Amino acid sequence: MKIIETVKEMQGIADDLRRAGKKIGFVPTMGYLHEGHLALVRKAREISDTVVVSIFVNPTQFGPTEDLDRYPRDFERDRSLLEAEKTDIIFFPDARQMYPERYATYVQVRGLEDFLCGRTRKGHFIGVATVVTKLFNIVKPHYAVFGQKDFQQLKVIERMIKDLNMDLEIIPYPTVREKDGLAMSSRNTYLNPQERERALLIHESIKKVTELFKNGIRDASILKEKAREVLLSKDGLDIEYITIADTETLEDIEIIKDKALYAVACRAGKTRLIDNTILMED
Ligand code: PAF
Repeated sequence: MKIIETVKEMQGIADDLRRAGKKIGFVPTMGYLHEGHLALVRKAREISDTVVVSIFVNPTQFGPTEDLDRYPRDFERDRSLLEAEKTDIIFFPDARQMYPERYATYVQVRGLEDFLCGRTRKGHFIGVATVVTKLFNIVKPHYAVFGQKDFQQLKVIERMIKDLNMDLEIIPYPTVREKDGLAMSSRNTYLNPQERERALLIHESIKKVTELFKNGIRDASILKEKAREVLLSKDGLDIEYITIADTETLEDIEIIKDKALYAVACRAGKTRLIDNTILMED
């Protein structure tokens, strides 16, 4: 497994691989890997000849009051986890490599950023779209695997690929959960035992909304109200949003026709957690 720290070297390797007819599979991450990331790496392994994983905590997607400085990092641990998954290359640039002096170019995917997390995390998706564009130009992948837990991020990237005619395929991957249902996230490590217990209410709300949907409830306001009751039970969580939205435009839906996204963002203590599911006829 190679560890590449410069843009130039990574681009050179990507060019050589492409010339040799190798399919490059890519998993962009901010490190502090968990089983959810490793599932994405396995998917990339399955469909490509060379697997590249980037580890870069991207400063442009954090707001001024967010957790950039305390974001968990452990390169040695990440390295051994990726080695065990037979990753070929870790791209591990520093901020100067990615954003050199006088850096001035940003990518904005309009519309999709106005909903869900974009309402409170102003500029977040500009940071994501910008760094992902840069990573695609550096790693030159044929496939890039993204988790559905960050559903809005996935939709922003899919839109960007189409709009900017980027020549690669985005592979969505289902959310990986702990045994008790908590969606895996690097931020779960911030939770103390009581907060972690309360965080399970998010999955409880998914189960509740899915059950009601299966029983024929299509009115989004009823589903959201029931979700709220679950999220606020047992000392509850601080709710940032509960949404029933169109799975493509992410706009709010009042009455669900065939399918919809149920998405929530909550805080357990200081830790912000998101989760979602697709409500769909069988
Ligand atoms: O999902 C993430 O970890 C990040 O948003 C990504 C895609 C690596 C961009 O920094």
